[in-house]
Amino acid sequence: MSNRIMAWVDERLPVTEMIKSQATEYPTPKNLNYWWNFGSLALFILIIQIATGVFLVMHYKPDAVLAFDSVEHIMRDVNFGWLLRYMHANGATFFFITIYIHILRGMYYGSYRRPREILWWFGVILFFLLMGTAFLGYVLPWGQMSYWGAAVITNLMSAIPVVGEDLVIWLWGGFSVGDPTLNRFFSLHFLLPFVVAGLVGLHIWALHAVHSNNPDGIDLEAKDNIPFHPYFTIKDFYGLGVFLIVFCSFLFFAPNFFLEPDNYIEANPMQTPAHIVPEWYFLPFYAILRSIDFLGQFSKLAGVLAMGGAIAILFVLPFLDRSPVRSFRYRPLSRALFWIFLVNCFVLGWVGYNPADSVILGGVPIVFVGRAASAVYFGYFVLLWFITQFGIEKPKPVPESL
Ligand code: HEM
Repeated sequence: MSNRIMAWVDERLPVTEMIKSQATEYPTPKNLNYWWNFGSLALFILIIQIATGVFLVMHYKPDAVLAFDSVEHIMRDVNFGWLLRYMHANGATFFFITIYIHILRGMYYGSYRRPREILWWFGVILFFLLMGTAFLGYVLPWGQMSYWGAAVITNLMSAIPVVGEDLVIWLWGGFSVGDPTLNRFFSLHFLLPFVVAGLVGLHIWALHAVHSNNPDGIDLEAKDNIPFHPYFTIKDFYGLGVFLIVFCSFLFFAPNFFLEPDNYIEANPMQTPAHIVPEWYFLPFYAILRSIDFLGQFSKLAGVLAMGGAIAILFVLPFLDRSPVRSFRYRPLSRALFWIFLVNCFVLGWVGYNPADSVILGGVPIVFVGRAASAVYFGYFVLLWFITQFGIEKPKPVPESL
């Protein structure tokens, strides 16, 4: 019976053929390691975020007077509301952990290189959108950090010459962050995940057009591939199981580990918190923003440009890397640079976490560390171009097939 139904459908829309060619029998490199699990994991988390978000919206009130209480109502009165909210809030954190690993995997194995540039660009746009979505979402509980975080970040627009001040007022829908701001942020926070979902479709389309890269970074022959199902479905499910153990451990035993205590205090425009910090996943970029404080009236604009540039530079990464070899497995210098880059991201995060006027051991102002770490961040891209453009790096021999 089901065969007859499928035959009827297939005659009109070749679904079986599509599933075979794009999923079950889709040729996949046999040497993919666990770092290739994070794409499907990101997709899973996107689904969690949309599903929990839809239910949160049923009880949330996007109103400056009611928002904070409506979140408390979700936490205390709604059946399993606490679970929905903790899943959504911690889901954002785990989304970023997953995406950072996903991006770094691509950087290490040269997945951004020809012919995967468009696939990479869709990824960078997704990264921008995810950051925007997370920022907008964080404003919705209307706690102290929601309010003041929104105030600090939206104020950055005022650095734009001539129109900046007007733009900020337009963005706020008033003369300060307030009810209209909350309303529009809610509307956009609801919309963006669906744009993200559409872009993920394009991302995967671009992936399937050129197929996966692999840890050796070489172009594969047909014999080097195996069908996606059952080999990678089972591997993805295994990864998902491990992820769920970690995710649920936080959810049920330390749900506030990544959340900011100040955000359990209702937004108060008359009282600035002692220390305004963004969520952990923005900290490295926040540090870059603050590291430019020596240009007088141009510091703010330069900081904003540096922060935006820190992400936008990923767009040109495929053209900066001129090596004949993709994977850093066979590129000792690039590999060393990569590890320095990674450690430096943690340093930037730590700088971003500390107040701008703090000093570290020996009385060194932390902004000095921030400036040095920002230079190292951009230095990675410059040096990668330099050592590959002028043949300074001598790649090791690469296998011809698996
Ligand atoms: C919502 C966010 C995202 C989702 C759901 C997603 C999903 C996926 C999936 C399912 C794959 C195939 C499995 C894998 O290779 O891991 C993949 C591959 C890839 N993604 Fe993403 N991705 C996202 C964001 C990004 C970002 C931000 C970047 C880079 C800036 C990126 C770059 C890539 C690249 C280069 C590949 C091909 C990897 C290879 O073949 O070696 N993705 N993505």
